[in-house]
Amino acid sequence: MDIAQKEFWHRHSGEIGLLKAGVSVQSHQLYSLRGHRASNIVPSMLLPYELGLLYALARDRFSGAGKIVDLGPLLGASTFCFSRGLEDNPELNESMKIQSIYSFDLFRYRGYEKFLGNVPVDNATGNLLPAFIRNLRDYLEYVVINQGNFLTWQWDGQPVEILFVDIAKSWRLNTHVIQQFFPCLQPDRSVLVQQDYVHFNEYWIHITMEWFRDYFRYCGVLKGASAYYELLRPIPLDQCQVDLEQLPFDQKWELLTLAREKMPKPAQEVMKTAAAKCAIEHEQWTLAEATLAEVDTSRLTDDPSQDFSGIAKDNLKKVTTLLAAKRG
Ligand SMILES: C[S@@+](CC[C@H](N)C(=O)[O-])C[C@H]1O[C@@H](n2cnc3c(N)ncnc32)[C@H](O)[C@@H]1O
Repeated sequence: MDIAQKEFWHRHSGEIGLLKAGVSVQSHQLYSLRGHRASNIVPSMLLPYELGLLYALARDRFSGAGKIVDLGPLLGASTFCFSRGLEDNPELNESMKIQSIYSFDLFRYRGYEKFLGNVPVDNATGNLLPAFIRNLRDYLEYVVINQGNFLTWQWDGQPVEILFVDIAKSWRLNTHVIQQFFPCLQPDRSVLVQQDYVHFNEYWIHITMEWFRDYFRYCGVLKGASAYYELLRPIPLDQCQVDLEQLPFDQKWELLTLAREKMPKPAQEVMKTAAAKCAIEHEQWTLAEATLAEVDTSRLTDDPSQDFSGIAKDNLKKVTTLLAAKRG
C-alpha cells in the first residue's frame, strides 16, 4: 500500500488498531504498553494517529536494509511501537530485527517534570533510562540505546530506512539531524517523520523541508503534529552541510511561505504562528503581528486526524505572548 494513503496508518490508530500494536489509551497522552510479560503505563506526547503510523512503518514498510532511527523517545512509546511493528513484520526473520532500532535521548526527568508528573523515576538522579528499559524489556534485543547529548553522537553512515525526529527542538539539533542522517536516507525506501511539523516552535523544520523539497515526496500530516515523507533521490553529502540558520531573513520567510502553501489548510493555520515566531526572532514585529492576525482558529475539517484547530488556538496564544514580551 502507498504509505501516503491515510489507510496505511489509520487502520492502526483507532483503539482496535492500537491494541494490535500492544497499546491501549488510558487517557489523553497516557498509554498502556503491553509486552509479553507485563503492561506498563507510559505517558507520551504522541497521539494515537502517530503511534499508528510508527507501528505501520515498522510492520509494513521496513525491509531490514537499513536502520530505524528513533530520536527523542523519552519513555519509549515510539520505540515500543517500532518494536511491535518489527515483531509483526511478516517479511523479516528474527536476526534482521536485532539491533535495528537506534534510540537517542538524554533520558532525563529534568525539563519534563510538568508532563511526566509523578511517573516513577527510578533513582535519585532523575535518570529515565531504567523506566525506558522497563517499558521496552520484551524488545531490548531490537534496540540500541544511546543516552546522552545528541549533539555529541556521530552516525557511521549506515543506511537509515525510517528516521523519526522528535528531537529537533533547536536550530543546532535540527542541523545535527540533517548533517548526520539526511545523507544516509535511501531513495524509494527511506521514510522521514518530522514529529514537530505542525507546531509553532520548530519553524526551522518547515524551512528544512522546503529547502530539501526536491529530494522528498510529502506523504501526509496527522495530529498531534507529524508530517511524513519518502525520499525520492539521494541527498549529496555536501548539501547536508548546509547551516540553514545562517540564511537571511527574507529567504527564511520565502521558504516558510512556500512550505505553508502546500500543506492542508488546518495545518497552515498553525504554520502561520511558526512563521510569526521566526519574524519575532528577527525583530520583524509588524510582520509577526500581521501574520498572527491571519490565523484562523476555527475547526476547518470534520476529520479529527486533520483537525489542528486546538493547536492553532494554543500556539496563537503562546506566540502572541512572545511577541508582546519581546517587543516590549
Ligand atoms: C518532546 S520530547 C519527546 C517526546 C516523546 N517522543 C514522547 O513520546 O513523549 C523531546 C525529547 O528530546 C530529547 N532531547 C532534547 N534535547 C536533547 C539532546 N540534546 N540530546 C538528546 N536528547 C534530547 C528529550 O530528552 C525528550 O525526550
